[in-house]
Amino acid sequence: MKVGLIGLGNMGSGMAANLLKAGHDLSVYNRTPGKLQALVERGAKAADQVSEACHGDAVITMLADDAAVESVVFGDKGVIASMGQNAIHISTSTISIALSERLTAAHAKAGQRFVAAPVFGRPEAAAAAKLFIVVGGAPDAIDICTPLFEAIGQKTFRLSDKPQAASLVKLSGNFLIASVIEALSEAMALVGKAGIDQHQYLDILTSALFTAPVYKTYGGLIADKKFVPAGFAAPLAHKDIRLVLAASESLRAPMPLASLLQNRLLTLIARGGESLDWSAISQLAAEESGTPPEPPLRR
Ligand SMILES: NC(=O)c1ccc[n+]([C@@H]2O[C@H](COP(=O)([O-])OP(=O)(O)OC[C@H]3O[C@@H](n4cnc5c(N)ncnc54)[C@H](OP(=O)(O)O)[C@@H]3O)[C@@H](O)[C@H]2O)c1
Repeated sequence: MKVGLIGLGNMGSGMAANLLKAGHDLSVYNRTPGKLQALVERGAKAADQVSEACHGDAVITMLADDAAVESVVFGDKGVIASMGQNAIHISTSTISIALSERLTAAHAKAGQRFVAAPVFGRPEAAAAAKLFIVVGGAPDAIDICTPLFEAIGQKTFRLSDKPQAASLVKLSGNFLIASVIEALSEAMALVGKAGIDQHQYLDILTSALFTAPVYKTYGGLIADKKFVPAGFAAPLAHKDIRLVLAASESLRAPMPLASLLQNRLLTLIARGGESLDWSAISQLAAEESGTPPEPPLRR
């Protein structure tokens, strides 16, 4: 397919490489142009402007947050102004329910289609084409996008004809991961303070009770205190919990645990952890137990 990809961050660069590997005709755009070169060497066309990545069958956006998506999509030379009739915008970023709805309406008004396809999996999964993709949109549009999903992921879930449903499932999933990270952080601070080896503790727990990869991955990062480079940076996690709380508010489904997680992530950012992985909230539980946190959080 002739496709554009906008946003070559931790996730988008791996996805772009896999689209090329699968033989798609790919144009790439990134706000910071330095990230284009590696993909051009693999056969991608460099787009100097957003509009140059929008002349194919579909445009994929993999951008940080609502503000980034809005700045690229709307406006004179944005995605909507540049895409052809019937072309499909596939949003793989984790965005708000409200923006998903706004994009659906705006693309429809322009005679285009919008598919929300947020993903589960860290940058390593994106690089290995092992993402899990949750899709919402018109069934015929999803059919057309299927070869692209097959190129970047290991499984696609066709959830709904409403894009915002996919955004909600993604946000709820990140709320659950953050909850796991906080629970692991508290338990590991507890046993660590008692002098129990945290790696051995993790081995016991992930063998006997919690065998899911999420416990192994995040438990390992917490035990190793490996928060740099950030696979998923604290400000992005904070953004997701804020969006979960917004959904909780509008659907009138209280989520007290989400409020606690928002506070944890905000504290992490306020104390200098902006560039750390979200699993660094573990340092807050550790510090509360009397263990000095790792730099840059040490006071
Ligand atoms: N990392 C993960 O584990 C993970 C997993 C699943 C989903 N996600 C979601 O995927 C999305 C991307 O995550 P990521 O980890 O790839 O983030 P990232 O590494 O921070 O990359 C963000 C991308 O957005 C661009 N961007 C940011 N603000 C912009 C603006 N105002 N205008 C234009 N471009 C802008 C950045 O461009 P520059 O290069 O110029 O800064 C970069 O290409 C987020 O919605 C995140 O929640 C992440």
